[in-house]
Formats: sequence, C-alpha cells, structure tokens
Amino acid sequence: MYRRAPVPLYYQLKELIRDKIRSGEWAEGMRLPSERELCDQYGVSRMTVRQSITDLVHEGLLYREQGRGTFVRRARINQQLDRLTSFTEDMLNRGQTPNARVLSAGMCEADSMVAERLQLPPGQEVFRLYRLRTSDGEPLALELTHIYFPGCERLLEEDLEHNSLYVLLETKYGIALVEALQEVEAGLAGKEEANLLRISPGSPVLLTRRTTYTDHGHPVEYAVSTYRGDRYTFCTRLTREWR
Ligand code: GLP
Repeated sequence: MYRRAPVPLYYQLKELIRDKIRSGEWAEGMRLPSERELCDQYGVSRMTVRQSITDLVHEGLLYREQGRGTFVRRARINQQLDRLTSFTEDMLNRGQTPNARVLSAGMCEADSMVAERLQLPPGQEVFRLYRLRTSDGEPLALELTHIYFPGCERLLEEDLEHNSLYVLLETKYGIALVEALQEVEAGLAGKEEANLLRISPGSPVLLTRRTTYTDHGHPVEYAVSTYRGDRYTFCTRLTREWR
C-alpha cells in the first residue's frame, strides 16, 4: 500500500482484492479474512477496509452473509445473445455439467399466445415442458417450452432429465434448428419461482421469449425462460453500419 500514491488507500486495497480474485488466489466461494486481519495485513484502518469491501459488494464481486462473513461471488455467466445455442451447450462450453429437473411434461392445447408464435390454430395440441435448469448443481433458470411438429407427442417418451432437447430434436427427429427470434425483459421472481431458483421472492430475473425456426422457416419451439438476475449477464456484439 502506497500512502503517497495519488490514488486513495481504499481504492488500492480494492484493486488488490480484485487482482486476487481475478488470479484465482481467492477462489469462488472463499471467505475473506476478517476486517481486523485485513487491517493488520495491509496496515490500513478499518474504515478503509470497509469501504473497499462495500464497493466490491456493490460491484457484485463479493457478497456478505449475516453473521458468517464476506465471500467471493461466483463469476457471472456471460451469455452471448448472438448465437442460437441450448442451455446444455452453453454450460458444456463453460466446462460445467448441465442438468434438468422436469417439473412437468405433457401435451396441452396451445393458448392464443403459443398458437400465434407457433403459427398454429388455437387449441392445437402441443408438447409442453417445464424444466428447472441447473449447472454444477446450482439452479440457474426455469424453462417453459412448447414444441410443435407433426408427431411431437413422441417427445412424451423421451428422457428430458438427461438429454438435451435441442440434441434430440436435431438428431433423433431430424429437425434442423437454424434461427430464433428472442425478446428479453426484466422481471421479478414469484414465490414459487424463487423457491426453485433458490433466490428470495421478488429478486430480479431476466425473461427471454424465444421462437425457434427450422430450416424451412417453420416455428418449432416457443420457450419462455426465467434466468437468475444475479447470475447472468447478457452480451451482444454490435456492429455499426456505415452508409
Ligand atoms: C435454451 C433456450 C430454450 C431451449 C433450451 C434447450 O436455454 N432458452 O429455448 O429450449 O435452451 O436446451 P437443452 O437442449 O439443453 O434442453
């Protein structure tokens, strides 16, 4: 710590902690040394330590647990929004193990929204699947999806706890998924959703509504996904068009 440096001490300490997290020296989930220990170690006041930590809590790098201390938060999931990927692919690409808990699966009549998105007459029978998606055991999203193609009731026989829906559609059913239209909206977790996602009711969530099309331009999937707002960052590459 350099007392004569033009940057304040709390800022220096904050950057030092950030480096430790970035380098992995302080791993995800690790409990930080106590305020007193940090004061002794870096020869700074308690106020300085508190300010650095509070800043990093606000930035989302650390979190406090009442009576237990301050911990290093797991890195957020950077979800690219410019490619059509499945949850399974996203997690495997991160070196994690994806999983699904089927909350319900069955055939149902398309309501007006589902019918409109899937370009079907209202009341058409579609396959409806509601899953809790986890990765390395951590609940991340709830996905309610509606699928329609002739013979889609065969999906009732599939094991959707251990198989990727997209892989099944593409390999077993020969449906090429080529593009999707997706909307993103902010939302708040209801009591039941919060329970499943292990967050407090009323926590922010990110909602996506995706309509996925086959190579013939037919919509095959309409899915509403609810992502934990504290775990996801959605990321898009923007290019400027020069006229
Ligand atoms: C994403 C999409 C869903 C899609 C799911 C398929 O998360 N938001 O619309 O249904 O992936 O995932 P998987 O192939 O892992 O079952």
